[in-house]
Amino acid sequence: MARIVGGLATSHIPAIGGAIAKGLQKEPYWKPFFDGFDPAREWLARERPDAVVVFYNDHGLNFFLDKMPTFAVGAAPEYRNDDEGWGIPTLPPFKGIPELSWAVIDHLVAKDFDIVTCQEMLVDHAFTVPLKLFWPDDDAPPAVPVCINTVQFPLPSAKRCWAMGKAVGEAIAAWDEDMKVVTIGSGGLSHQLEGQRAGFINKPFDLEFLRSMVDDPEWATQFSILELVEKTGTQGVELLNWLAARAASPGRMRRVCQNYHIPISNTAAATLVLEAA
Ligand code: DHB
Ligand code: FE
Repeated sequence: MARIVGGLATSHIPAIGGAIAKGLQKEPYWKPFFDGFDPAREWLARERPDAVVVFYNDHGLNFFLDKMPTFAVGAAPEYRNDDEGWGIPTLPPFKGIPELSWAVIDHLVAKDFDIVTCQEMLVDHAFTVPLKLFWPDDDAPPAVPVCINTVQFPLPSAKRCWAMGKAVGEAIAAWDEDMKVVTIGSGGLSHQLEGQRAGFINKPFDLEFLRSMVDDPEWATQFSILELVEKTGTQGVELLNWLAARAASPGRMRRVCQNYHIPISNTAAATLVLEAA
């Protein structure tokens, strides 16, 4: 039986990809953010997970506004990155693990989630930046991308994302392979890139959300999408990815490390690693 050994989460700001490419990790602007990954990488080096399920949102690379699935799951042997226009390098393809993808897809559909299944899927910075951050030596285990629409209204509710993530966790636990799996929640925390509130950040809410991730993970499901936009910004709703990743192992988890740094670009940047208690 497979088991989830940890739940990871990080912001996915594209500029991070540029900083990595230019080797700026120790520069004063970047150091407080990148230093937060040292304990995460130590933990990963000890645990050596065999697969990773990445909950993220596509920003227009694979899905554009004309066709926007609420939930989509990748089932490809590899996932290609491409130029998104952020001026960051296009990365080599990432390995998939179709057997686990199909186990997840079968279970989600059995549980009445009407997902889109993608046997070919481009992955954008929300997928690539977290994998690069947690595995800087490009030795990330094979991945299952689970894409949540946090971009174009109507968005799935926090409750629905929780339920979907929980079902993904059930699929992993029922997968008949002796494998260690980690989940990643990509994006957030509070940020808004456009409009009158561009630059909006809500530190008190973010810290409460980070606290809830450890010992009260369903806390944020009390809020409607509009309330979450109000509290976290139009892009802060990417925390839906964190919720789904946490829901995959909904019981008690222990905090391995946490980092919160304002700002990176326009975003309250956060990193969290939880391990199975
Ligand atoms: C930024 C943050 C994001 O989540 C994103 O997808 C793009 C840009 C930013 O803060 O620059
Ligand atoms: Fe984003």
